[in-house]
Amino acid sequence: MSKVRKAVIPAAGLGTRFLPITKSVPKEMLPIVDKPTIQYIIEEIVASGIEEILIINGRNKESIINHFDKVPELEALLRAGGKNDALKEVEAITNMAKIFSVRQNEAKGLGHAVLCAKEFVGNEPFAVVLGDDIVYHDGKPALQQMVEVYEAYGVSVIGVQQVAPDQVNKYGIVSGTKVAERVHQVNDLVEKPAIGTAPSTMAILGRYVITPGIFEILEHTGKGAGGEIQLTDGLKTLATIEKMVAYDFIGKRYDVGDKLGFLEATVEFGLRDQKLGADFRKYLETLLA
Ligand code: G1P
Repeated sequence: MSKVRKAVIPAAGLGTRFLPITKSVPKEMLPIVDKPTIQYIIEEIVASGIEEILIINGRNKESIINHFDKVPELEALLRAGGKNDALKEVEAITNMAKIFSVRQNEAKGLGHAVLCAKEFVGNEPFAVVLGDDIVYHDGKPALQQMVEVYEAYGVSVIGVQQVAPDQVNKYGIVSGTKVAERVHQVNDLVEKPAIGTAPSTMAILGRYVITPGIFEILEHTGKGAGGEIQLTDGLKTLATIEKMVAYDFIGKRYDVGDKLGFLEATVEFGLRDQKLGADFRKYLETLLA
């Protein structure tokens, strides 16, 4: 079985849930405390043992790639000023992973975005990680858990968690048969079913390990929910050809593509921050007293 060596981050979306800031700033560059959301994603991928990363980019998104590039004049300034901690942090961002990018010329949906990774991925299993879903962990990163499930079963793994029945219309929903603790064999998938019609409340939350057979399927997948080419529809077809499992990963997930979810992440990551956490907690306590 091949190892999972590559990850794909679709980042060409227009961020319409987060206007007006996303008119000019890519949603992936919005900071949670002091790091852009995409840096949390890349740190999770790297912590999961994957070092080759493809960012599917769109127009006006150069700042994402710039963030992971070297800034020699900044490094020189920090070095000259003896600001070694800041220097280390800045250098680490550049050395973290091998980052590649490709343009998705048209926003035709997540399935179409993943298809743009075909040449990069080749004939290997690969991870897909969605930037809207940040997963906090104090143990094993969600993606590493998924890679281990892939290594155990040798089939595509869809990362899921339970959501409330009135939330199913926001997600891809998986139905399956339990085969082990936290693992279901996938029987069917449906993208954003209407409330009351979903086969389960197991929602896809932005983490996938997929076998390369998906590419040929996506080439022939038509428009689905919202008039877009959906990854969920491609996976539904793949599940009729190969076995597939859903894995209920451990970790607290934040929908940072949503304004309320973003605020929740900001507060909770702020409270966890080693340097700022204690003062921020005090501030919140006085504010709410
Ligand atoms: C996408 C996927 C959906 C998944 C969701 C997770 O939807 O299409 O299946 O449940 O991400 O965040 P989007 O949120 O991009 O509309």
